[in-house]
Amino acid sequence: MPDERAVREAFAARIGHEPRVIAQAPGRINLIGEHTDYNDGFVLPMSIDRATHLALAPRQDDQVRVISLDFNGDTTFTLGDWRGDHHPHWTRYPRGVMWLLGEKGHTLGGVDMVLGSELPIGAGVSSSASVEMAVLEGLLALHRVDQYSQAEKALMGVEVEHRFVGMPCGVMDQMASAAGDAGHALLIDCRSLETELVSIPPSAVVIVMDTAKKRGLVDSEYGLRRQQCEEGARLLGVKALRDVAEADLGRLLPTLPPIIQKRVRHVVTEDARTLAAVQALRTGDLATTGRLFNESHASLRDDYEVSCRELDTIVALAQARPGCYGARMSGGGFGGCAVALVDRAVGDSFIAAVAPAYQEATGLTPDLYPVIPAPGSSARWL
Ligand code: GLA
Repeated sequence: MPDERAVREAFAARIGHEPRVIAQAPGRINLIGEHTDYNDGFVLPMSIDRATHLALAPRQDDQVRVISLDFNGDTTFTLGDWRGDHHPHWTRYPRGVMWLLGEKGHTLGGVDMVLGSELPIGAGVSSSASVEMAVLEGLLALHRVDQYSQAEKALMGVEVEHRFVGMPCGVMDQMASAAGDAGHALLIDCRSLETELVSIPPSAVVIVMDTAKKRGLVDSEYGLRRQQCEEGARLLGVKALRDVAEADLGRLLPTLPPIIQKRVRHVVTEDARTLAAVQALRTGDLATTGRLFNESHASLRDDYEVSCRELDTIVALAQARPGCYGARMSGGGFGGCAVALVDRAVGDSFIAAVAPAYQEATGLTPDLYPVIPAPGSSARWL
């Protein structure tokens, strides 16, 4: 797993001189607030201590050379040649970011860059958002552009996803990577993009549980869920499902088609659970926080229908362990990661018990690891 040193050393070895700028952007795990971001709702992700690192330096010509330590890739193309099938697939995020900077009126020069990530790809910890944010931070620093806030940078990452990659994601992953904070989870109001830091009581540890079942969000039902939510909002006459109060669900749901009822119920109750979990964390009430995690998982499984056998299995195994306050799938679903909130005193034994039990049940080798909240994306000149 390449760290900052690895990308710096690879840059010097492959490009032949030292890089000028170093950038980094963390991945994220979402604690609660799932599939609420594109409904203008609330999410509570945490930027984690695993990041994408980027080393870069300007070139004298109009070429862009991108080296990826993760894909063992090395490719060169001309500035402006952003789109097309002749490009290796793994370069789409750097190309998308450069394309967007051009759209925003910035003139880029030739550049050499080396990318490496500590984040597993397609595993639900937002490796793609972290690549976007690292490349954006690196290029902005290199061109001495400092006009954008972290929220604006996150929105630029989302624009790359929507207009270049073709993934209709919400704003959570890029916001968590850009605006995350060491020591805190981040409550994001996805309508205003206002954020609030939320501490996790020190007696608990957040454990990522990677099911080893890869997920592909663009190919999955993500876009369909988003359409169903928009349909629900339209039928209810609101701007977004965030504007529906939980107390009104009993009256409103029967007016909707059955499938839309389930989607709307998930989103509206998930928003309420997210705000309740923030309250519980603020008072150190881990039992309530954990119960809300469990309820969130059930709602995603039964009403939103974005879980899968592997996620349900690892979540059930986690929930059954002593010292586990709660567990749920995290991220888009259909594979990827789950998250557990566990008593710090039993964190190691939790991992030692859940991993083999999951392997036994599914035949897949999971990866369970504790995470701590890490700083958001940044870049610096060397
Ligand atoms: C993916 C998307 C996010 C969010 C989650 C579900 O991670 O990129 O915007 O919608 O799924 O909460």
